[in-house]
Amino acid sequence: MSEVPTRATNRAGASPTDPSSPSIDARWKEEGTIPPPARFTAQANVRNPTIFERFSEERFPACFEEYARLLDWSTPWKTVLDTSHPPFWRWFEGGTLNASHNCVDRHLAERGDQPAMIFVPEDEAEAVQYIAYRELHQRVNEFAALLRDFAGLRRGDRVTFHLPMTPELPISMLAAARIGAVHCEVFGGFSGAACGTRIADSGSRVLVTMDGYSRNGRTIDHFANVEAAVRSAESMGQRVDKVLVWSRHPGRSLTTHPLKDGRDHRIEDLIGRYAGKRVDPEPMASTDPLFLMYTSGTTGKPKGCQHSTGGYLAYVTGTAKYVLDLKPEDIYWCTADIGWITGHSYVVYGPLAIGGTTVLYEGVPSYPDPSRSWRISERLGVNIFHTSPTLIRQLRKTAPEEPHRHGQKFRLMATVGEPIEPEVWRWFYDEVGKGEAAVVDTWWQTETGGFLCSTVPGIHPMKPGSAGPAVPGIFPVILDEDGRPIERGSGHAGIICIRNPWPGIMQTIWGDPHRFLEQYYSRFCRDEKSTDWRDWPYVTGDGAIQGADGYFRILGRLDDVIKVAGHRLGAKELESACLKVPEVAEAAAVPLADELKGRVPDIYISLKPGAPPAAEVAARVRSSIVELIGKVAAPQHVYVVDDMPKTRSGKIMRRVLAALSNGVDAGDTTTLVNPEIVASIRKVVAQAPRASPGLSAEALHKEVRDTE
Ligand code: WT7
Repeated sequence: MSEVPTRATNRAGASPTDPSSPSIDARWKEEGTIPPPARFTAQANVRNPTIFERFSEERFPACFEEYARLLDWSTPWKTVLDTSHPPFWRWFEGGTLNASHNCVDRHLAERGDQPAMIFVPEDEAEAVQYIAYRELHQRVNEFAALLRDFAGLRRGDRVTFHLPMTPELPISMLAAARIGAVHCEVFGGFSGAACGTRIADSGSRVLVTMDGYSRNGRTIDHFANVEAAVRSAESMGQRVDKVLVWSRHPGRSLTTHPLKDGRDHRIEDLIGRYAGKRVDPEPMASTDPLFLMYTSGTTGKPKGCQHSTGGYLAYVTGTAKYVLDLKPEDIYWCTADIGWITGHSYVVYGPLAIGGTTVLYEGVPSYPDPSRSWRISERLGVNIFHTSPTLIRQLRKTAPEEPHRHGQKFRLMATVGEPIEPEVWRWFYDEVGKGEAAVVDTWWQTETGGFLCSTVPGIHPMKPGSAGPAVPGIFPVILDEDGRPIERGSGHAGIICIRNPWPGIMQTIWGDPHRFLEQYYSRFCRDEKSTDWRDWPYVTGDGAIQGADGYFRILGRLDDVIKVAGHRLGAKELESACLKVPEVAEAAAVPLADELKGRVPDIYISLKPGAPPAAEVAARVRSSIVELIGKVAAPQHVYVVDDMPKTRSGKIMRRVLAALSNGVDAGDTTTLVNPEIVASIRKVVAQAPRASPGLSAEALHKEVRDTE
């Protein structure tokens, strides 16, 4: 177990990192620590550091029974961790449980009338909806009956959801979980085509969607995506027999597109048949999949991260309790969309398993003005606020004085998804939290199910810009390129890996176990025949540096993933969307630093001979990206260039393009076959308007690496 300070040191600039190390992103120096407010610590779920003795390496894996015991099991587990087929770990083997029962039914006796969810429509004129556990129970049962009896879904079947942020999304998830169907929610902002790829990969024959919703003051005709989704799934060999459509406002349709006879069904027309129906929660094996969550990786194809029922639910419940300090009486608001893992783990499953009240907000947190979040928090009495550095940066920039004018009162605030700059952290702490809220910076991934590094707020001091030490039961190690551990406090960065399995880790990539092994375990596996977990470190793909105090600073991705406003986009996915435009010969996507979103994609394309004017193709490339992936992926620039910088083997050197985009030295270009192209590309870039401050050379070096 790594030692972590339990007392505040509060020394500014303690153990500065070594600026001579070439691989460090030294945009800010390491900060001193700040103790969480005493009022917070006094009431925290966990304030005794002996938790780290209970979760010591000697007590692994049995320590995680503490999390499993937070749940109701229909059959107790026999083996805590089965390692017989690494790296396909099996947690709480032999146990059976149901996630819907754990998030709904078991709370009825004690808090049937307490709101499980509070839904805040984007339009402020529309009433806020309080959904008590009892009502949630009824709605989940009725929809579960519909999924089973009308859509014919059975345990183990996959069902794709393309749903926006309304109560129907968690209701659908819990209904699927109730009958043992594996839900695959696709972020509502993704395009129909992107949804179709995921329908096909998961093998879903049922799609659940909604007619429309509000976003940024506009009504989105969401049903309009269905045709493209079904067509794209069918072109990949997956037929969709039934599309079930929730109505955002029953009785008033928000789509102008006609429903297709025999295939599309309005849920409001069917649900009456199931009024008052009860569906017994299906007892699922702990190791049965609960859901798939697609995420971008180094290749073009999104990966379906398969999460388990028992291990996953236990892990998100335990971490929500200890790291988010969630209690049943809290009003907790996490601004993440449920279409991402943060929403699954920490809007739906963790908070509801604890019996808390989770706030669901339909729209953009800065709509219609930057005080919206503070108004919602004040009116609802939100006391735990969980959000992204992107939103914090934006609100700090547009309305830095606003939080102080409002009566929001948080006792804990959490950030997730990207590193937060110390100045931004401080504004969040002083202005939003008014110095009264503990802050946790939680580092983890879609693959990991729940938090990996963060301070435990009742125990550890906070350090702006550092996620913190590992959370209980997680044993990280930073390895260099050759797999040698890097000492803490050495000032050197490396690849952060987790030495041990934990219950929240994904089980596999859906349909592609080989890729799972390759992507996350092969690189540093000591012996592929070994069934000892110690031989199988999990490779996160992030660069990190560990301070002498054991705190980790996460420096960003080491693979071809671009993080836009905390959302993961694969460079390959962006490039293949560009290549869908027939005139495009070659494409490269690189990260450009963005003041608010962290990174945005910059696109370089070269054209086939005889192509129409460059501006026209560039515009088509932009729409192809938006159509195939979604608006989140819209590039800052599309540069049309004569040729790409290439190695002798013909590989495009993204690193050179990224340097040009960000206005830093392109470094050594002598290994290129066409070094002369660099000057001509630089000219193209110089002609475009550029607001970005650019990435530092160090950050670039880490984030964009080319293997030659
Ligand atoms: C990647 C995972 C974690 C759920 C939401 C995003 C980056 C995540 C932090 C943080 C610095 C962070 C990492 C990670 N990241 N949290 N607190 N500090 N970086 O999940 O889309 O799977 O992205 O997000 O690079 O690998 P995801």
